[in-house]
Amino acid sequence: MEITIALTKGRILKETLPLLAKAGIKPAEEINKSRKLVFDTNIKGVRLLILRSSDVPTYVRFGAADIGVVGKDILLEHGSEGLYEPLDLNIARCRLMTAGVIGVSSQKGRIRVATKYVNIARQFYAECGRQVDIIKLYGAMELAPIMALSDEIVDVVDTGGTLKANGLEPKDKIFDISSRLVVNKAAMKMKYLGIQKIVDSLERAVG
Ligand code: PRP
Repeated sequence: MEITIALTKGRILKETLPLLAKAGIKPAEEINKSRKLVFDTNIKGVRLLILRSSDVPTYVRFGAADIGVVGKDILLEHGSEGLYEPLDLNIARCRLMTAGVIGVSSQKGRIRVATKYVNIARQFYAECGRQVDIIKLYGAMELAPIMALSDEIVDVVDTGGTLKANGLEPKDKIFDISSRLVVNKAAMKMKYLGIQKIVDSLERAVG
């Protein structure tokens, strides 16, 4: 039985590989030393894909991958239709927060918010009853308030170091975030035994 697992590259990948190893799944070659995007593993028929975060739910939703590892921030922003979310892997923990310039309290009127999380931001500020113009960015959100592109940003915060280094401070917490295991709903039925075995061993590895 072929089982394809889509992994999120970067920070999440660094924490995913030890967890997979603990669950008995090891890439056949060192991922970080290769430009390849698909890797065989020590388990026959189990392959790993290395993707950017927002593409992981897409691969799993369409069944191009059976299982995925992705941040809850991405699932909240892009939705999780067609996906089961059987396991909180408890890795890459961080917080999705609003942030603004240090010492500057939130303005009362309409503000501009720069973020790649446009859906989450729109919903959060609406629930707070605040009027906002959302500006979609693809990275380096921390630059926006400093360059007066926006008043606030919505981004993930771990240590807070990136905010601080750019003269910003966290304001309101929107969600606690961690990486989740997602499974294609059809694959869960068609490949039940193989997939459940992987989910079970990862669940034990998470502890
Ligand atoms: C995230 C986020 C911040 C940083 C926060 O970026 O966008 O820039 O981490 O971490 P800190 O609070 O510990 O400083 P990441 O490095 O994951 O890369 P990305 O911008 O590609 O998401």
